Amino acid sequence: MIEKDLLALGVFMPNCSNMPSISTHSVVTNQWQYANNERIARLAESLGFDYLFPVSRWRGFGGETDYLGTSLETTTWAAALLRATQKIKIFSTVHTPLFHPMVIAKIGATLAHISGDRWGLNVVSGWSQREFGMMGLTLEDHGRRYERTSSFIEILRGLWDANGKLVNHQSDWYSINDGVSLPRPAKMPEIANAGVSADAQAMTARLCDWSFMSGASIEALPRLVDSISAQAGEQGRQVKTAIFPFLLWRETEAEAQAEFQRIIAQKDGEAARNWLSDISAGSGSFDEFTENLIAASGGGLPLLGDAEMVAEQLRAIHDSGVNAVMITLQDYERDLQRFGGDIAPILRRMGVIRQ
Ligand SMILES: Cc1cc2nc3c(=O)[nH]c(=O)nc-3n(C[C@H](O)[C@H](O)[C@H](O)COP(=O)(O)O)c2cc1C
Repeated sequence: MIEKDLLALGVFMPNCSNMPSISTHSVVTNQWQYANNERIARLAESLGFDYLFPVSRWRGFGGETDYLGTSLETTTWAAALLRATQKIKIFSTVHTPLFHPMVIAKIGATLAHISGDRWGLNVVSGWSQREFGMMGLTLEDHGRRYERTSSFIEILRGLWDANGKLVNHQSDWYSINDGVSLPRPAKMPEIANAGVSADAQAMTARLCDWSFMSGASIEALPRLVDSISAQAGEQGRQVKTAIFPFLLWRETEAEAQAEFQRIIAQKDGEAARNWLSDISAGSGSFDEFTENLIAASGGGLPLLGDAEMVAEQLRAIHDSGVNAVMITLQDYERDLQRFGGDIAPILRRMGVIRQ
């Protein structure tokens, strides 16, 4: 098996409070702090992980946990972590409506230069009116959000392009007149989009290197991967796919399931409902099943069982064509160490990850 076919490992980092569950059970309350993120980043690198992705949040979701309410900004966070590591690729997650693309072109080029081109950009188009309203901004219609993000990425790619033409762009959002931003990165940073809708897929297929998705189940993944690959293929492009599973394993499956149920039993229902109603733009009520699942893993795909079972599920994710997993964990430092001891050796034996 050649290297590009292996499953790349990443960490969906706890730069926000109360990752990864909307619950009060077993929360590592200071996990979001920089010193902890740095230890986790170094540990991930030493275990052979390839990527770190952060969450971008400007306001929490209320309730007892104020889920994700305290968070480190992800370009400054990446600057520090890139200097604290040597090999791992570190992304920043950027809300396109909150930054001018000329500003991100400059920030990104700076991060690329200080890190030997290990920095990447994960764009998000925004979905929480609670967050945007705080800044006096209104969320645009879904399709318009992605039109804006398309313009944003086109401008960025133009400014970063080694061929160095001046950038001119006129759209509803930006007026760029003979735009230039120096220095340029030595090579084009990888660009990911986080989203799953048809609008997201169409934009990602045309302009991004990675589609960072959430899948409702392992069975749902092949269709998602095929859809994004087919659309990219129509453009003569290739787009890699990543998802974020929540890994919870114990000696026995029963113990893992019991722990998962404890997380749900102590869910912060108010924050979970706020999260759900924001993401669906107030579409109403949610069944208990959906609320419990969101509360348990923050939208990540739960992989439960003993180590062998979790490794099997990761193999199935890999078999479905997904290129990378950005994992979430209860206690990142403890569980990354356990991952290195329990699960990584099984994945290596299976030929799923790098030896
Ligand atoms: C894997 C993944 C990670 C995401 N990370 C963030 C984030 O850090 N901040 C944010 O505001 N939105 C984040 N989102 C939300 C998306 O950017 C997007 O707004 C949301 O999925 C709704 O868009 P869609 O209907 O196109 O999927 C994430 C979505 C996914 C699937």
